[in-house]
Amino acid sequence: MKKTIRICMAGFGHVGQRFCRLLQEQAAQLAQNYHCQILLTGVCTRSKGLLLHPDGLDLTQILTSPWQQLPGWRSGNVLDMIACAQADIFLELTTLDIKKGQPATDHIQAAFNHNMHVITANKGPLAWHFQELTRQAQQKQLAFYYETTVMDGAPIFNLAANCLPGDHVCAIRGILNGTSNFVLHRLAAGDTLAEAIRQAQAIELAEADPSMDIDGYDAAAKICALANVLMQANQTPQDVQIEGIRHISAAQLAQAKEDGYCLKPIASATKAADGSVQLRVTPQRIAKDDWLAHIDATSAALELSCQLCGNIAIVQRDPAILQTAYGVYSDMLQVISHHI
Ligand SMILES: NC(=O)c1ccc[n+]([C@@H]2O[C@H](COP(=O)([O-])OP(=O)(O)OC[C@H]3O[C@@H](n4cnc5c(N)ncnc54)[C@H](OP(=O)(O)O)[C@@H]3O)[C@@H](O)[C@H]2O)c1
Repeated sequence: MKKTIRICMAGFGHVGQRFCRLLQEQAAQLAQNYHCQILLTGVCTRSKGLLLHPDGLDLTQILTSPWQQLPGWRSGNVLDMIACAQADIFLELTTLDIKKGQPATDHIQAAFNHNMHVITANKGPLAWHFQELTRQAQQKQLAFYYETTVMDGAPIFNLAANCLPGDHVCAIRGILNGTSNFVLHRLAAGDTLAEAIRQAQAIELAEADPSMDIDGYDAAAKICALANVLMQANQTPQDVQIEGIRHISAAQLAQAKEDGYCLKPIASATKAADGSVQLRVTPQRIAKDDWLAHIDATSAALELSCQLCGNIAIVQRDPAILQTAYGVYSDMLQVISHHI
């Protein structure tokens, strides 16, 4: 017999919309392999208000029509939607707030209070409130998944949770922000900063306001999320030593090249002798024979140094929005398979 799974979501931007299209594309797979159908019973954005339907919203309509013209539309916020959506799973897909991880953290706590499992693509809650949220999920015996927050659908958190029993992550090092990597690459090729950013925007890598990437804040939220989950760091983005790439000069890049190095935007988490975890995001000189030197402009890469398994490297080549949506989708399948 087919299970009916009700989901609701906060945020309907690039990720939310691609995820809805993926649900449509995978409907047959969901029925055949997972014996379920997914109903979206609520969706909400800051400017569009919310849509609710207990029997499931029409995905094509919400993707193509003005919401105010659709049945089930009303004004309100995410907390109103969570209270009324009667969903099994809540998806947190709103914009990152680097300063406090809000209101996404409040959304997640409200969803737990309504007994919903939670999946977040928003890394703010992991960077700011991971321990608290995990405790709340455990107390209520609810699932909390967040694969998409770092390197989209590439398995990082699920790999560590499922494939490294009895092991510990001692250090993390990687290139986590594609825009910074691309811009450094273009600067080394002779572009000015403004030209390099314009090119990153032209291929839809950089946002209209690229400062979160260029100034290192996006990577800081990511390394903080990784360290909190994989190294029990209990830190916030305020604890990350951050140096962006705005000040990098053509002379610095030329000198690095002459010395046999390249400059890469490296995020790292290392355990100090006293057990504390130090987090850094800085442009670093990387030797040409270091594997991270070969991570090309739009890719991301991560190395986990494990106590027993040694060093594991994960590379995500040229991610697109489908991979982001897949991260949310794969988390949803985990919830369906193991928790519902
Ligand atoms: N895009 C990626 O490749 C990618 C990859 C990994 C993770 N992520 C993360 O996934 C999340 C979504 O990314 P995105 O690319 O879809 O962003 P986006 O296109 O900017 O969309 C953000 C959505 O969140 C909504 N929103 C923001 N604040 C809200 C609030 N307080 N209440 C209700 N809705 C709110 C926006 O609504 P309005 O438009 O009405 O303001 C919009 O619908 C972000 O946290 C991002 O960091 C994105």
